[in-house]
Amino acid sequence: MSVLTLQHVDQVFGTGSARVQVLHDVSFAAEPGELSLIVGPSGSGKSTFLTIAGGLLTPTSGTVTVAGQTYSDRTQKARDRLRLESIGFVLQAYHLLPYLTVADQFKLVDRVKRTGNLDAAALQALLRQLGIDQLKHKFPAELSGGQQQRVAIARALYPDPAIVLADEPTAALDSPRVQVVGQLFQALARERGKAVVIVTHDVRLDPFADHVFEMQDGTLTQRA
Ligand SMILES: Nc1ncnc2c1ncn2[C@@H]1O[C@H](COP(=O)(O)OP(=O)(O)OP(=O)(O)O)[C@@H](O)[C@H]1O
Ligand SMILES: [Mg+2]
Repeated sequence: MSVLTLQHVDQVFGTGSARVQVLHDVSFAAEPGELSLIVGPSGSGKSTFLTIAGGLLTPTSGTVTVAGQTYSDRTQKARDRLRLESIGFVLQAYHLLPYLTVADQFKLVDRVKRTGNLDAAALQALLRQLGIDQLKHKFPAELSGGQQQRVAIARALYPDPAIVLADEPTAALDSPRVQVVGQLFQALARERGKAVVIVTHDVRLDPFADHVFEMQDGTLTQRA
């Protein structure tokens, strides 16, 4: 069963002469064990799509379901809980907290979500895989863009979510690191049964995808 669906989603921003329709009748389903890639040019609506899929934005019309539950049927609190328990977000801006070390970024997750997070050995293995295990005592400002990006990926995966949504997760990475991250996301899907959805214009991720969709002016189509 699909763990994440969007049905006939429209998104409009602004009113009157400033009105822009950013998503047009978008339908999509993500399955456990599969990596879906959504590619498209800048401004085509990829981040808007992902923000709606993750329940951070309620669409103008259409339905979003996560784990069989419709977002709009739930209270804000229940929605936050569902998101916290089921969804790992890698946002386009990394959203690392500037006054916390890398290690403390994970401890903060423990305070918000107390159970079901990766154990210490699994976290260490993840950090090593991403090449950031030596950076635990650094603050975000002491890291390069690519290192911050990999910390943000690790933090999104730390709660062990069933659904992983990533917005341009490789934008700051060189090609060898893109391979590492592509393999990591693919393994999360294939070996750990996660539903992984990545929006990107990085064609270097194509080989890792089970399905590729194209976003063009707010219309989503599956590539044959
Ligand atoms: N809150 C908002 N209010 C008004 N317009 C918005 C808002 N958010 C996004 N848009 C517009 O919606 C369109 C799609 O934006 P979106 O961020 O989804 O594109 P994108 O495909 O992620 O682009 P990029 O590849 O540059 O990240 C853009 O024209 C943008 O200006
Ligand atoms: Mg974007």
